[in-house]
Amino acid sequence: MSTGTTDQGVAGGVAQGSNTLTITDNRTGRQYEVPIEDETIRSIDLRRIKVNDDDFGLMTYDPAFMNTASCRSSITYIDGDRGILEYRGYPIEQLAERSSYLEVAYLLIHGELPTQPQLDTWTHEVTIHTFVHENVKEFMQGFRYDAHPMGMLLASTGALSTFYPEATQIKDVDLRYQQIVRLIAKMPTLAAFAYRHNRGMPYVYPDNDLSYAGNFLSMIYKIAELKYQPDPRLERALDVLFILHADHEQNCSTSAVRSVGSSQVDPYSAVAAGVGALYGPLHGGANEAVLRMLRRIRTTDNIPEFVEGVKKGEERLMGFGHRVYKNYDPRATIIKRAAMDVFEVTGTNPLLDIATELEKIALEDEYFVSRKLYPNVDFYSGLIYEALGMPVEMFPVLFAIGRTSGWIAQWLEMIDDKEQKIARPRQIYTGGRERDYVPMSQR
Ligand code: CMC
Repeated sequence: MSTGTTDQGVAGGVAQGSNTLTITDNRTGRQYEVPIEDETIRSIDLRRIKVNDDDFGLMTYDPAFMNTASCRSSITYIDGDRGILEYRGYPIEQLAERSSYLEVAYLLIHGELPTQPQLDTWTHEVTIHTFVHENVKEFMQGFRYDAHPMGMLLASTGALSTFYPEATQIKDVDLRYQQIVRLIAKMPTLAAFAYRHNRGMPYVYPDNDLSYAGNFLSMIYKIAELKYQPDPRLERALDVLFILHADHEQNCSTSAVRSVGSSQVDPYSAVAAGVGALYGPLHGGANEAVLRMLRRIRTTDNIPEFVEGVKKGEERLMGFGHRVYKNYDPRATIIKRAAMDVFEVTGTNPLLDIATELEKIALEDEYFVSRKLYPNVDFYSGLIYEALGMPVEMFPVLFAIGRTSGWIAQWLEMIDDKEQKIARPRQIYTGGRERDYVPMSQR
């Protein structure tokens, strides 16, 4: 990939319009020509920039990967400035309107929308794998009575690897496919078991007559009735939420899945890493934080004081801002509409008035406008989840169910990418050197 050119004064010889970058190292006066491909240079091309032959060579420093592409991917496209999100090229708005979560999962994993027979087979496969081994249930019952369901999901996802030891054979396409189906099928079951545990309620086994979202609602809410019948409007709203959360290119949890997966560990362990990343308040925990924030604000009268506090840097307006979107998050628009549909069934929530007013004020305020802070996917999702009767601890769990298909698609892409190796960033060492050990008595 590198041109290998390292000659003084090369810039003079490079034709204007060449797809290269000429770098002058002012320490030595040498110039280097580095290829530009896809608006990107390869960091490794900088390694030959040295003062002395035995130097390590130049590195790039990019904490939090603010400007570093870690992979090539054909799964999800985001244009953060224009508020565009596409899965495999299909706009999220069309998928949320016309598709189902399982169809979207198929699209993400296989790269194309399924034909009817392909979708039927896929749906059948996922449906017949919803049950978990009885020992998984017993393992989950061992958690403390008030265990956070996300912690339970994290542990039980990882534990699945011990039930399917063949999952370590990640290069075997058929075996790999079985684990993919299992992960998508069992995630709602683990999530629902975690919920019921936290509530002190008996676990409900999957009902394979129901849809993916309908079965999840049944495992969550079924009590003594012989058959739980989900409200189709709530079932659809949940399915749309799963679609909206299905993938979001190289976010924190997906990077975690790729990074851990790059060690060639089994997919259950890699996905468990994603669940762990999603547990954090700046990622999957944000919608929980939004709800707590709205509760704390209590009435619309308190909004101006709250906004002043945010502007003074005392706290953040949760559900606003995004590393990539510098415009309205397209998922937020769809979720806001879905929230209205849900409230038609469940009756409105006073927190919705606070959220709407808060959004209106923030969108006009110079602080948020100048920093391009707009509502993100989490601003309204918590309100829907609450309307569906979910406690806040379940919010990241619901996010994880939807995101599982994206994690898997990204993991698969990484496994088959010949350029990928075990993820191993460099560092700039800032500590002491060559210090002699000091005996305890002399410290
Ligand atoms: N409220 C107030 N100020 C904010 C906010 C916010 N929510 N987000 C960013 N800012 C300010 C920040 O203080 C900084 O201001 P200044 O330039 O004066 O220092 C500026 O905007 C840039 O912020 P940043 O922290 O450098 O941006 P980032 O890309 O590192 O952070 C973020 C992205 C999502 C972590 C952040 O916007 C945030 O903490 N938002 C609230 C939490 C949230 O809603 N997270 C969900 C993200 S979407 C779901 C997902 O992908 O997981």
